[in-house]
Formats: sequence, C-alpha cells, structure tokens
Amino acid sequence: MLVGGKEMRSLWYEEGCLKLIDQRKLPAKLEIFEARAVEDVAYAIKEMVVRGAPAIGCAAAYGMAMADDVEKAAELLKSTRPTAHDLFYAVDYMLEKIGRGEDTLKAADEYVESIIEKCRKIGENGKKLIPKNARILTHCNAGALATVDYGTALAPIRMAKDKNIFVWVDETRPRLQGLLTAWELEQEGIEYAIIADNAAGYFMKNGNVDLVIVGADRIAANYDVANKIGTYEKAVVAKENDIPFYVAAPLSTFDESIEDGSKIKIEERNEEEVMSIYHWKPKKARNPAFDVTPAKYITAIITEEGIIEVNK
Ligand code: MRU
Repeated sequence: MLVGGKEMRSLWYEEGCLKLIDQRKLPAKLEIFEARAVEDVAYAIKEMVVRGAPAIGCAAAYGMAMADDVEKAAELLKSTRPTAHDLFYAVDYMLEKIGRGEDTLKAADEYVESIIEKCRKIGENGKKLIPKNARILTHCNAGALATVDYGTALAPIRMAKDKNIFVWVDETRPRLQGLLTAWELEQEGIEYAIIADNAAGYFMKNGNVDLVIVGADRIAANYDVANKIGTYEKAVVAKENDIPFYVAAPLSTFDESIEDGSKIKIEERNEEEVMSIYHWKPKKARNPAFDVTPAKYITAIITEEGIIEVNK
C-alpha cells in the first residue's frame, strides 16, 4: 500500500521483532508497535493494534515463529479473538510446519507472502465486477491494513482506480475502522466520502450506490458470512434496492467445518468501546463486534481462485 507515496506493509518481521503499524493510532499518527515475544503478538491482536482477519492470521504466524512452547502459544493466540477464521487457520498452518521440523520464520514469511498474493488475485478477479464510474459502498476496513497488503474488499477497488470510481465509506462504529479505509483511499488518490453508518440506506435508496463490497471474518459452508457489525443491515438494504452485494475474501476465511452462520462464534467486546464518545455514562451497553449475513443476501464471493456466484 502507498503511505505518503511510498510502498509499505501493515506488518513485517525485522531483526527478531514483529513490527506492526499501530492501527489504534491511525490515521492521526503513524506509529510502529514492536512485538518481541508471542505474548506481545497476542496483546497486539486482542487490543487491535493489528486487526482484520488476514492480518491477524499473519501476525499470529510470526507469533508462532517466536514461541518456545508452541502448544501454549497456539492456545494463547487462538484465545485472543474468536471470530476471524484466518487466525485459527494460520496457527494450525504453523503447527503443521513446526511438526514437520520446518524453519518457523521461513514458514511464517511464506504464509504472509501467500496471503499478499491471494489478495492481489482477489483484486484482479474483483476488478471485473466494477463498471466505469461506479459508486461503491464499503463497510469497516478490508484494506491493506487488514491484510498486510492490497486488502480484500479494497483490492478490487485499488485495481479499478483508473475507472473513475467513487467510494462511500461507512464510518463503522464503535471502533471507526472506516477512518482507516478513508486514510488508505486518500493515500491512493481514490475519491471517497465517509458517512455515518446510519446514512448507508439513505444513499442506497436514493440511487447513489451501484455496488457494495465488504470483507469477511469467517464464511460458513453454506456461504453465510460473518463480518463487521452492521454488514447484515447493509446487505438487506442492498437487496431491497437491487444493488449487488459482494464479499471479498481469501479461501483461508472459509470455514467448511461450520455448516451455517448460526454456529459462528461472535466476539463481544468491552462496552467502553461504545460509550467512549458519550458525555454521560449509561448503565449498560452491548458491543457485538460482528454479525452474520445470510447467504441469500450475497450476490457473489470474490476469492483468489475466482468468483463464487451465490445468488444470480
Ligand atoms: O474488528 P476488526 O477490525 O478486526 O474487523 C475487521 C472486519 O470485520 C473486516 O471486514 C474483515 O476482517 C475482513 S478484513 C480483510
């Protein structure tokens, strides 16, 4: 991804240390968080220094490479965030490589390179779905920050940059990942407007949105999709208005062991995240971080291997 006109990844391994762009500080500050042990990596995932399913998986791969006790490390990393399938996929990938006696750092490097390449291919495949002058709505941040490079939902958008596109960016309360998307689009020189989450239906109904593309945290065998809270509402409103609703995700996000979305574990985060902007403290808040969009609302899923038509 471009940062100030230069290529940069959201995380990289250097001199015995995993370096991560601290996504809690962006876009106001570009700070690098240094993880020197698996415990630091677990902290970074849990506290959302690094976030987005594929990027969490990549950080976890390096966490495994740093660990002495790999079984304990696997348990620790898997306990950080329950919904993102890539986290579990990456840890199991590393356990298998370690079990075969392979070089752990090399295995983690290879894992990360493969995710980046998958995202590039998602971009190539998804670009074909974006017509000239398209106005695209996206939710949360499924960009390079969330995947190390390119992104999932943002990869086709990046690659369709020469088609005079415009992006509606949902703000994505309570963590405001929409700001990260706006920042990435600004670095790339792609036109956008950030909107309050509640405004998406207004723009869809008024004919201002041609298609929706979002990422995914876990996709069940029947193509129900868990993604950032609020995705479900956007999908329902898109269908109501005959707007194609695309999900972009690598195959590492697919969980064949889960037959439908009702079995996906949804992370509930601290209520403080919801209340932090209030001038008054209500007694109680609820803060589910993800929801499940039933497959019937999804037009197609864009993967590195091609496009899965879910509903024609
Ligand atoms: O809580 P987050 O910020 O980790 O949630 C991220 C999302 O929901 C993304 O849409 C998803 O992980 C896909 S990222 C390529």
